[in-house]
Amino acid sequence: MNQQAFPATTTAPDPSARLVLPDGRDVLLPILRGTEGEPAFDITRLREQTGSITFDEGYANTGSCQSNVTYIDGEKGILRYRGYPIEQLAEHSHFVETAYLVIYGELPTRPQRARFSALLTENAHIHERMVYLFESYPRDAHPMALLGAMVNALACYYPHLATNTHFGETDNFDEAAATLISKVRTITAMAYRMSKGLPVIYPKRSLNYCENFLHMMFSDPYEHFECPPVVSRALNLILLLHADHEQNCSTSTVRMVASSGANLFASAASGVCALWGPFHGGANQAVIEMLQAIHDDKDDGTRFVAEAKVGRRRLMGFGHRIYRNYDPRAKIIGKACEELLNELGVKDPLLDIARRLESIALSDPYFVDRKLYPNVDFYSGIILRAIGIPINMFTVMFAIGRMPGWVAHWREVAFAGRPRIYRPRQIYTGPSVRDYLPVDLRE
Ligand code: CMC
Repeated sequence: MNQQAFPATTTAPDPSARLVLPDGRDVLLPILRGTEGEPAFDITRLREQTGSITFDEGYANTGSCQSNVTYIDGEKGILRYRGYPIEQLAEHSHFVETAYLVIYGELPTRPQRARFSALLTENAHIHERMVYLFESYPRDAHPMALLGAMVNALACYYPHLATNTHFGETDNFDEAAATLISKVRTITAMAYRMSKGLPVIYPKRSLNYCENFLHMMFSDPYEHFECPPVVSRALNLILLLHADHEQNCSTSTVRMVASSGANLFASAASGVCALWGPFHGGANQAVIEMLQAIHDDKDDGTRFVAEAKVGRRRLMGFGHRIYRNYDPRAKIIGKACEELLNELGVKDPLLDIARRLESIALSDPYFVDRKLYPNVDFYSGIILRAIGIPINMFTVMFAIGRMPGWVAHWREVAFAGRPRIYRPRQIYTGPSVRDYLPVDLRE
């Protein structure tokens, strides 16, 4: 091993941190700074210099990459895509434009936006033969299982877009990205219609992204479809607010898979699987199930909060690894939720329960001390419910929204000049070396 430690007397030149080892040697760790000044110790040569690795289970202190897609300040509750505050994008932009921004790094000019929209429209249909694939799944399959399988299967039906990347095969990126973002919407609607035994509705060229999705979900094939603007606006907002969120479980999974040179569809399918769990994207389904259970129990939420405090359950839609403040997305969604229900004239008792639960939790020392606030999933389900999306599809909606982020992160990895596979280390805690025992000698 090449040990290049510095003698104990060496003063670390700025900007480096000095790590003093148990044997008295010093190692200098360069300090990297992000655009907003956030510091990080660069340990890329640590093992080479010291023979040791770092341990950070759950990666709460580990920066796994440098990325220029999204900035979060969890203490202050700040979220920006490519530098633009989420509040401004939520007010002025829409999902397709924001998807372009997230993927390509700049807000599109008018011609760029038109070209991107046209690519989405051209790629909205899915291969007819994929229908047989849908048919082979059980009718009651969970939509996230189907989505993961179908996104991965895109590599079979569109092999020219499923190229491995580390060897410069990135020519078809625009088409592959548009294919993925456009087709997830069609796949989702098709899965829903088939699960209900309804005829499949094909996308319409004249409709925008969200209208088209709602059309494919809810149209009657023999009637003209009229999508209330307030509904497509609400859907647009939900998707836009989910478009990226830096190194969360699913996005880091996408980057991990991409680092092996895997194609965009395979990488995105891995993101779908990672998103499914209730601690991550699956929380939006779990929140509504929790609110419904509180409603059915005729509890005011006190019992749920009490059980959460003794570790018997988690208050779903509360807490976040990064935010130690109100999740800015939850603020926007909470407001949009009230507006949507008012405009639709819908009275959802679950919204009242959610508000009550929030106020109980936010005045309870357990939640206050741990800085647990509502996250994006706390109110999003109430909007999705009002739109008519079935509960078991909520996480799929999160996945549709997150696609641009996964594409952007895949692109950062795939287009990196110098390919480098992600390969963490571990601290082995299993048995030490032992000899093989023939089966007759085993107890
Ligand atoms: N309800 C009750 N207690 C909680 C909750 C919660 N929702 N979240 C965290 N805690 C407690 C936890 O038990 C721990 O307590 P203690 O210090 O006494 O052991 C403390 O708060 C710190 O929790 P943690 O597990 O270290 O926090 P984490 O950063 O590892 O977990 C989380 C983050 C989101 C997984 C967690 O807060 C959680 O399970 N929340 C509920 C599920 C949820 O809403 N997930 C959606 C996240 S936002 C959308 C997304 O990006 O996926």
